Amino acid sequence: MKVFVTRRLPGDALERLSAAHEVELWEDQLPPPPAELRRRAPGLEGLLSMLTDPVDADLIAAAPALQAISNYAVGVDNVDVEAATARGIPVGNTPGVLTDSTADLALALMLGIARRVAEGDGYVRAGEWRTWDPRLLLGDDLHGATVGIVGFGRIGRAVGRRCRGFDCEVLQTSRSGGVGLDELLRRSDFVTLHAPLTPETRALIDGDALARMKPTAYLVNTARGPLVDTDALTRALHDGEIAGAALDVTDPEPLPGDHPLLRAPNLLVVPHLGSATHATRERMAAMAVDNLLAGLAGERMPNCANPEAYDRRAGATRRAP
Ligand code: GLV
Ligand code: GLV
Repeated sequence: MKVFVTRRLPGDALERLSAAHEVELWEDQLPPPPAELRRRAPGLEGLLSMLTDPVDADLIAAAPALQAISNYAVGVDNVDVEAATARGIPVGNTPGVLTDSTADLALALMLGIARRVAEGDGYVRAGEWRTWDPRLLLGDDLHGATVGIVGFGRIGRAVGRRCRGFDCEVLQTSRSGGVGLDELLRRSDFVTLHAPLTPETRALIDGDALARMKPTAYLVNTARGPLVDTDALTRALHDGEIAGAALDVTDPEPLPGDHPLLRAPNLLVVPHLGSATHATRERMAAMAVDNLLAGLAGERMPNCANPEAYDRRAGATRRAP
């Protein structure tokens, strides 16, 4: 079958896909422009997409032969899952394999912003360091701090386990329980986001939420950029309303080089690296390929974000004359 893969992947998983199907691979560093995806849609039976590819209702409608979408990410907010479900198209994702790598990065960001690691590196490299000094680049401790985890799924829990290892008090808020968001914001020294992007979580951290955080607290985001209102965060950093922010994800993403957020003080920002280790990105590739192979074979994907798509298919078959 005809499959489009929107980026080169680490490891050799794509070879298994090419052995079974007719694979077209987008070789550029930049994602295929939406118009390019759209142009290819009519012939596609399978799509292996990245979180940077908008797989919206229009694209799905333009691909009448599409049987399976495999997203190379745990998040599927870039895919119109409802539109796929309505067509009986399963959408694969990559949960589990990236949990620990993403939690590790959240800790790296907490430590990085609070202990001023990137700032210290810049200071030494710029040749500014003259002598050890009792007051040089003082930061804050992670050990013993209160960490508020927003979204307590696989990744949130993995962050909680790590923080307990740092003797932190761990608070969490999620759909299924924990403390209220207000209380979490008021009490936490670090607020770390691990919720998926949905209509309910968009701009969850807005100006009001930032105002409720302690002025000594740090915001960490390794989930999705739009969970945070970027303009409100920029203002909060400039006004010293919070102590700092460490971001793996931003809105927009990527941030243009001249974006006002990049001029804000006490900001640490890295380019969406949560799952970016050799081992994890290779496992994600294997999983994305397994999902697509299953979807194209008409079998259940090992990891599917919309299992109800299969019921839709079965229903459609039953209704057929
Ligand atoms: C990365 O952000 C993912 O959703 O896998
Ligand atoms: C720091 O390097 C110390 O010895 O206290």
